[in-house]
Amino acid sequence: MQLDPGPSEPWAATRSVVLVGLMGAGKTSVGRRLASRLDLAFVDADTEIEKAAGCPIEDIFEMHGEAAFRDGERRVLARLLDEPVQVIATGGGAFIDADTRAAIAAKGTAVWLRASLATLLARTARRDDRPLLKDQDPEAVLRNLMDARYPIYAEAPIVVDADDGSVDATVARVVTALQAHSKAEAP
Ligand code: S3P
Repeated sequence: MQLDPGPSEPWAATRSVVLVGLMGAGKTSVGRRLASRLDLAFVDADTEIEKAAGCPIEDIFEMHGEAAFRDGERRVLARLLDEPVQVIATGGGAFIDADTRAAIAAKGTAVWLRASLATLLARTARRDDRPLLKDQDPEAVLRNLMDARYPIYAEAPIVVDADDGSVDATVARVVTALQAHSKAEAP
């Protein structure tokens, strides 16, 4: 297996790095490692929503419905984007909301962790607390979500393939892509 080389120059983020993509793409594990590599704080939006609601996401869906969850998700993302520069892992649906997408474009840099169906299936099978997959055929759900969401995730200015089993290799690709992106954006 060939590992990507790390970035040759130090790089400092000037905007929050916002990881987007489907359930199982690795947003949380890549985000945590990326934050430590960039010497930034890491925050998981799903965890923040749970803290704000005082209960797990499963319960929010069950007791209040998906629409209430999405409202909370929009508010939490708006707050996190106003905090000092950090790495933010979003839940899979966050970037699908047009307001959240606009807020991320204005204040952060979105990175889509793109993964194949096989990867998503393997990784989501490790947890059983995702309401959208509960009592459903995960392959059918994920396939439908890929059809519906991949064209929207593709609006992210940075796309990184996340099928490689190694978190570190994905992190290295994200850092390289962030560097290239900020060079291209520089006046
Ligand atoms: C969701 C993804 C989940 C969580 C919620 C809804 C989605 O986050 O926000 O269950 O709509 O794709 P992860 O992508 O971190 O699993």
